[in-house]
Amino acid sequence: MVVLGIGEVLVAVLLLIAIRYWRLNKHTPITKWPVLGMLPGLMLNIPTLYDYITTILKQQGGTFMFEGPWLSNMNMLVTSDPMNVQHITSTKFENYGKGPYFKEIFEVFGDGIFGSDSQLWKFHRTLLQSAFKEPSFHLFIHKTLMKKIESCLLPLLDHAWEQGVEVDLQNVFQRLTFDSSCSVILGFDPNCLSIESPENACEKAFNKMEEALLYRHVLPKCLWKLMKWLQVGVEKKLKEGGEILDKMMYEQISISKCKMQSSTTLADKSLQFSLLNILMTNEKAKEKVDDKFLRDTASNLLSAGRSTIGSCLTWFFWLVATHPNVEAKILEEIKANLQQKGNWKDLVEEGFDKLVYLHASVSEALRLYPPLTFEHKCALKSDVLPSGHKVNANTIILYPLCSMGRMEEIWGEDCLKFKPERWISQQGGIIHIPSYKFIAFNAGPRTCLGKSISFNEIKMISAAILWNYHINLVEGHPISQGVSLILYMKHGLKVKVTKRNI
Ligand code: HEM
Repeated sequence: MVVLGIGEVLVAVLLLIAIRYWRLNKHTPITKWPVLGMLPGLMLNIPTLYDYITTILKQQGGTFMFEGPWLSNMNMLVTSDPMNVQHITSTKFENYGKGPYFKEIFEVFGDGIFGSDSQLWKFHRTLLQSAFKEPSFHLFIHKTLMKKIESCLLPLLDHAWEQGVEVDLQNVFQRLTFDSSCSVILGFDPNCLSIESPENACEKAFNKMEEALLYRHVLPKCLWKLMKWLQVGVEKKLKEGGEILDKMMYEQISISKCKMQSSTTLADKSLQFSLLNILMTNEKAKEKVDDKFLRDTASNLLSAGRSTIGSCLTWFFWLVATHPNVEAKILEEIKANLQQKGNWKDLVEEGFDKLVYLHASVSEALRLYPPLTFEHKCALKSDVLPSGHKVNANTIILYPLCSMGRMEEIWGEDCLKFKPERWISQQGGIIHIPSYKFIAFNAGPRTCLGKSISFNEIKMISAAILWNYHINLVEGHPISQGVSLILYMKHGLKVKVTKRNI
């Protein structure tokens, strides 16, 4: 006769409980297990995380409490209700900060604007706002990008066309935006975008860090802390990435300082234009601006500008390639707005502003595929949200930007359709949609500072490519979302380009 030990009996009982729970909950996407809470469902659905969260939100009427394992401190309120989002981001802005846990998760970005609250955040915001407002700064961004498009992007695509080879557009966009962001922020061009596609350790490190940071959101704190202590898995990559980032940042800060000191005249100094230089010469910030401050600010901006624009361009080009009618309308619009010479370069900055249909198409891509996938806030004091949900002090609130673009209540029954026309008024202008509904750039006082820069850059790059090439998707290449803080395509965007006869 077989005699069962205590261990076997325990396993059998747990298995029976698990089967019973699974049977009871198999038709609901959100199952709450004893002890483990909702974590198993979350872990099982990581490969399609954003669709999973959207499905639950739809089923739960737009707001639900995610409950993590016992004692894991993982409980958080998840909402896609625009009234709740307006309340958190604007109406009760003072009550909802990033909180200490956000700072712990994003420790690699130091005391920069992303993780800061209260006075430190106000200081960063005012400083950056004044730098971003300078017309010379916009002109510099415009010129830098234009040069990069002409000297690197178009020659690379020409080469691919002549050789008939496939190109991974996602990789191209990440390299392009890394080069242009480094040029604008640090004043140096790492030249990642070229036919040879050299590997850049820092560019690679950013991708790895963004992936690791997402895992810190979905794993219990004690688990990722243990992984960090043991230096295993994504935590190891995060540490290595941070070291590479530090090395590059401190090197560039030191080079910039040397250049500044060696230039004698004001004209000399202004020749070395970069955001670092603007910050180093800012009279009001003199006392706070040390190397650590510069490192944190520059790395926050590099992360803000590089991956987001690259991700938006990737999804935008995939959407355009799968919607030939949209491509035709964009080309028609560019043609109608060109001055006599018939060259896309003649679209001076005001010309780009006139590209309403292109603007609408980019907005539509950002709605369906927001580069930053979710926002994380923490309540200072207890509160009640407009949906009626009670929030205790220190509750973490997530609002997934990716779900908010796919809610019928906000965008109507055809919310999953790529339809630029929904953005265009009868008079032919862009319809303004409040940012707590069109949330890709966040809302309220913490709205993205780079919104208008981003639209300009995306429109410049899109117009340059679409005017010169037709994009053919490589047949059979899988398109799916990667799992990262930034909405990447898991396998990149493989295309072949055909030069247009203009
Ligand atoms: C398509 C491109 C972009 C998208 C979708 C985007 C989106 C966002 C979002 C969602 C936030 C809120 C983040 C948070 O609070 O955690 C944010 C903040 C911010 N973004 Fe962007 N961003 C883009 C490009 C840029 C660029 C090019 C820059 C500047 C070079 C920039 C600078 C900033 C800054 C400084 C903040 C912090 C604002 C604050 O906390 O007060 N962004 N962005």
